[in-house]
This record gives sequence, C-alpha cells and structure tokens, in this order.
Amino acid sequence: MGVGCLKAISVKETSKLKGTIEIQGSKNTVLPIMASSLLASGSMVITNCPDIEDVHVMCQLLKCLHVKTYYKNHTLEIDTRQATYAMLPAELTGKLRSSVLLLGPMLAKWQRAQIGMPGGCAIGLRPIDIHLEGFMRMNVDVKLHHDILCCETYYLQGTDYTLHFPSVGATQNLIMAAVGAKGRTVLRGVAREPEVVELCKHLKHMGVIIEGVGTDVLTIKGSSSVSCHDYQNVYDRIVAGTYILMATCISSRIYLKQIDDIESLKTILQVANQLGANIVRMEQMLCIESDGVVGNGNFETGGFPAFPTDLQPVLMTVLTKSEKDSSLMEHVFEKRLGIAQDLNQLGASIRVNGREAKIEGGNSLTGHTVRATDLRQGAALVVAGLMSKGYTTITDISHIERGYEDIVGDLRKVGADISYV
Ligand code: EPZ
Repeated sequence: MGVGCLKAISVKETSKLKGTIEIQGSKNTVLPIMASSLLASGSMVITNCPDIEDVHVMCQLLKCLHVKTYYKNHTLEIDTRQATYAMLPAELTGKLRSSVLLLGPMLAKWQRAQIGMPGGCAIGLRPIDIHLEGFMRMNVDVKLHHDILCCETYYLQGTDYTLHFPSVGATQNLIMAAVGAKGRTVLRGVAREPEVVELCKHLKHMGVIIEGVGTDVLTIKGSSSVSCHDYQNVYDRIVAGTYILMATCISSRIYLKQIDDIESLKTILQVANQLGANIVRMEQMLCIESDGVVGNGNFETGGFPAFPTDLQPVLMTVLTKSEKDSSLMEHVFEKRLGIAQDLNQLGASIRVNGREAKIEGGNSLTGHTVRATDLRQGAALVVAGLMSKGYTTITDISHIERGYEDIVGDLRKVGADISYV
C-alpha cells in the first residue's frame, strides 16, 4: 500500500455490507517465524506474508545481522548464510514488540545478544520478565546497560521452567533459545495460541524435536541439527475476527476468503453467533449474515481458546449497538479498555472500573474526529465509524497499518463508504 504519507481515514455511516474480502496472512504468526530463520544457515521462502509495517521493520532488524531479505508480492525470501552477530539498535527495536523475539534465536546461534528495548502498542506495561527469567534459568547472564539489554552465556543449558503467566512471546522466545541449548528443556504453563503452535510446527519441519505441541507443557530437545524450511503463512485470525464482528453490527452478507481452518476462530464465531450473526462455513470461505441487530452479553478475554484480547476493542464497539447492557472483562492487557473513552466521545455510555467495562445499551453513535493510538483500537474506531451517524475521521492511521494491510480497500470491497483523506 502506498499510503504511508496519508494520515487519516474518513468513514461514513454504512447501512449495508455486501461482498467478499480476502483475508491477509497473519502478522503475529509470521514475525516469530521470521525470527526463527536465524536458527539455521541457508535460505527460506515465506509465502502469504502480509505487506505491513511490522514485517518490514523485522526485515530491517534481520538486515542488521547481515541476513538478506527480499520482499515482493507477499513472498519473503530470507537468506541467513552470511548472518553475523551485531547489536540491535534501540531506534529499530523500539518500533516493534516482536524485536524481543530475536533474543532467543541470537542466544541459540551466538550465545549472546545485545538489543535495545522492544516497543509495540501502548496497551499496558508489557514487561519482559518472563522471557528473561526463562533465559536466566538456561544459564544466561542478563544485564540492562543504558537501556540496552545485554544477554550472554557460555552455553545454553536445557532446563525445566514454569512460566508464571502463559505469555505468547516468552513461550516463543524460550522455545527458540531451547533449540540451541544442551539437553532437554521442559517449559510448563506455556501459551497455547495458534501462533505458538505454528512456530512449533515450523521448527519441527526444520528438524527440531518438540513434544506437547498445542498443550501447556512443551519439551524441546536441544542442539538438534536444523535446516531452513519454507513456510506458507496462515490467514490472520484477528483481521478475520475484526470483519466477522463488524458484520454482526451492520446488516450484512459478506464472504471472507482464505479461511481454510476455523479452529483458531471458534470462540470468535461463538460470540458473533451469540450477538445475532449467522455464519456458514464453505470451502476455504466463511459467509457472515446479519440483520445488524446486536444481542448482548457478558464477555471476558483470555489466553487461547478464550476470546482474544486483540479483538476486545472491536467487541466493545459492537456492543454499543445493543439495546441491552453488556460487560467486558479484560484479563490480558491492563490498559486495553482505553477505547471506551473514544466510544463515549462518539455517544456511547461505557463505564470502566479496573479491568471491567460496563456498556450501556440503547445509545447511538455520531461521527467525530478520533485518534488511533494503537493497532486494534484503531481498527475498532473504523468499525465505530461505520456505525456512527454522518462522518467519522480516524487520524494517526499508521498504527492501523502496522497490522492491517489495507483496511480501506477491504471495506470498500463490501460496500463501505470509506477513504483515505
Ligand atoms: C502477543 O503479544 C501478540 N503480539 C499480541 O498482539 C497479543 O495481544 C498478545 O500476544 C496476547 O495474545 C505478537 O504476537 C507479535 P504476551 P505478547 O507476552 O507476546 C504479560 C496485536 O494487536 N507479560 O502474551 O507481547 C503482558 O504484560 C498484538 O497484534 C508479563 O507480565 O503478549 C501481558 O499482560 C498486541 N511478562 C500478558 O503477559 C512477560 O515477560 C500477555 O502478554 C511477558 C508478558
């Protein structure tokens, strides 16, 4: 998308959605897969790789390590044959939360890593204590020096470690470090998100021996000989979920393509169903139909298979359309209920108390200028714009472009009156 210099989206109230959207490749799956390329020397091709800012920043980070990357038409080639150790500067690591995922592979490959602190969406404190505690249990010395994280080890030692919270990133990081460790690593209490499962499957294709994939205990045999392997990226379940929820609050008949497996969407589909949408699965496709009348309920986010935190802002937006009251409990990121304030500005009545939001039914939204402050809150504001009377302008859309390849193009395909301004 050549819209980098355009900073706002204008959306008009839309009464009907009809048409087909092709769902892009998954951001949160491809970023750790890209990081894992460091574990082997050779070249690999990733297909269905989304054309989004986060992918391009990860390419720049890999380039700092003399890894060659070549991106064209959703295909990313990675060549790690010349990979050499380097420090990763804060100017780049600060642009992306997933920069932290290079720590594990760097430790496995070079027994050291010096990286600037990771960035990412402002949705909570987002500490990395679980990543670091796990590394320390693997014999790594960790220091923070002028905001640069310095990790070093003589050799990585396999360990038995229980994560105190099933962090997705820490699980992925520790699995990748364990590939280069002496002996066996047992990780307990790990995240079971589809993005963790995909990483494990890919590592298995590279030659790593991993047991327990999909459960909360993983056993990784270290020092296995690994080789590069191509990867076909899965569809983005959060982008798909955004459009499924959007279709529940506007009279719709939309088709979502590239959905070959609905396992990762199960809870999202149940919620959409509870709110009144009718969903039919077809070959590699979903049809979502609704009359735009939204039901209500009490919902909570959580680790997979619970409802994903990434879709909580969109769900809150949709619930403002209900005639009845609803509630939402955010269990993952403490600051992610921030969208309530934006929705109230548009006419909603939402009260936030700690991690819980109470959404009053029976209020209608009216267009206004609102600002995207993080990726999913920004996407939710686009959905709010479709539901709001008149026009809504969403500024600072670079946040949205970090994860949605072309939200404007997608929504135009289903008849929304939306454009870049
Ligand atoms: C991943 O972030 C995703 N990002 C997030 O997607 C997603 O919201 C999140 O998982 C939860 O599903 C990527 O995959 C690139 P966590 P991650 O570590 O790995 C706490 C999006 O919009 N925690 O599972 O950073 C943390 O503060 C994004 O696409 C610690 O306390 O999430 C949070 O409260 C944003 N210590 C909770 O765990 C740690 O060391 C979950 O974080 C690590 C995490």
